[in-house]
Amino acid sequence: MGNIYTSAEDESTIDDVLSKGLKVKAPKWTVMRLALAHSLKMHSAPDEELDRIDKKGFDYDLEQLTGHNQGHSSTGQKQDYTDAIRGLLSVHANQDLFADDASFRRHLQRHIRRGLREFRRGWRESHDFYQFLYQELCAGVERESESRDTDLSSLLIAALGEIGVRGEITATQDGPRITRYLVHLEDPNHLDRARRGLDKITFALGLQKHGVFLTESGQPKVVGLDVPRPRSTWRTVHCQELMKWAETNPAKPSGLPLWPGVTVTGSPLSFDLTRQPHLLVGGTTGSGKSICLHTLLISLLIGVPKERLHLILIDPKKVEFAPYARANSQRIEVITDVVDANRRLAALTEEMENRTSTLESAGVRDLAEGRRKGILNLPYIVVFIEELADLIMQVPETEEHLIRLAQKARATGIHLIIATQRPDARILNGLLRSNIPSRIALMVQKSTESKIILDETGAERLTGAGDMLLRLSGEPIVRLHGVLVTEDDSTAVIRNEGRS
Ligand SMILES: Nc1ncnc2c1ncn2[C@@H]1O[C@H](COP(=O)(O)OP(=O)(O)O)[C@@H](O)[C@H]1O
Ligand SMILES: [Mg+2]
Repeated sequence: MGNIYTSAEDESTIDDVLSKGLKVKAPKWTVMRLALAHSLKMHSAPDEELDRIDKKGFDYDLEQLTGHNQGHSSTGQKQDYTDAIRGLLSVHANQDLFADDASFRRHLQRHIRRGLREFRRGWRESHDFYQFLYQELCAGVERESESRDTDLSSLLIAALGEIGVRGEITATQDGPRITRYLVHLEDPNHLDRARRGLDKITFALGLQKHGVFLTESGQPKVVGLDVPRPRSTWRTVHCQELMKWAETNPAKPSGLPLWPGVTVTGSPLSFDLTRQPHLLVGGTTGSGKSICLHTLLISLLIGVPKERLHLILIDPKKVEFAPYARANSQRIEVITDVVDANRRLAALTEEMENRTSTLESAGVRDLAEGRRKGILNLPYIVVFIEELADLIMQVPETEEHLIRLAQKARATGIHLIIATQRPDARILNGLLRSNIPSRIALMVQKSTESKIILDETGAERLTGAGDMLLRLSGEPIVRLHGVLVTEDDSTAVIRNEGRS
């Protein structure tokens, strides 16, 4: 029936998962079936690119992968899953793959290879593979008792009573992931009590870790209590929505608009990077940092005219920005080697000095003014760093360059977007931190980590999967749910890149 091919990279992923992840002696198809399951959980179709293999790895026959023709009728235990897998793929592709063997084989290969690619992207060897799999495969599969759509009003009133807050619920409002209960307080002085008692309310609602947040409504005695709903009821925000927002709100000539996600009540939010002027994104592994970076990147790629933007994407993990490297675009540099990255950042500080003197001699304040007056037609440069810790631990000098850029690059149109899963003092030196006042905190493990990222607690109570707290310089914190950008979305955006 034909074979399934893997690339050399896929093979090394399979080996890594077996030796460092599962740590058991198991056949390779174990990993490939896990990869298939992982890919089937994603809603988009796997990219056709996956048919192409640059450096060949291995070929497998269906006997190995799906147990084709391997029924064990004597024991009554059937091990041929070919029909089951064919059925699942047909549903996923909305196409009858029973009628077309070649097409079935192609779909199967695409899914397995996409799953393996997701393992490369999402799992780090230093992390527990079982935990990673559990999160990836079981996220969204709630126990039945949790997905019962109960109205929590009476529980909430009881929980408020426990902490000495009296009031009544006047309205509820469903956002993409939370339900907001508007509570009319009997006594406005109870607001602080409610705020202090949020952990107890969370506990009383049986929500354990993912917390209830309090939002002031603007009316003196009314507060919103934002209660997370079970995952099965969440509405995912997809890349198509981001594209629509960006296209219907063209960037101002001096702007770099970013669209990180929607507010808890579902309205899109955008801000201008040039005003921040840099951004730090922190959160634990699996909280949605990389996807958040993709969202910001895509906001810029579709929202800012080509000649106005140059991107430097630094990715020591080598996988995250790979689709952009394939674009072969002059204005997108992808750097995966830490020494190269350090060299590039050093050169960028020189470029910043040059730009500064050009601005000074032209007598203009900043790049935006220079562009407006037609004196200086340089593009903005936005640097994305996928994992700050990898960079700084391996090449400590990079920190100095980053600090200089964070301190001085603003006027010259050079901006940094830096992500890290290690928001600790060692990685986020005080000087770097204080020069990047705008922050996004995705879910973290401990409230101390939330404090390092945001200067406030709260991120430890987020629900994960792109749930975030955004603090723009000088503004109150806003909670957002991020856009889910997939690799296929990035590939599609990049395809347009080629047509410039
Ligand atoms: N905005 C989002 N909406 C829905 N799910 C998301 C979102 N962001 C992240 N996720 C989920 O979380 C997983 C981990 O995201 P990722 O960006 O790789 O995390 P990190 O880089 O922090 O390790 C994703 O594979 C996806 O399942
Ligand atoms: Mg990541």
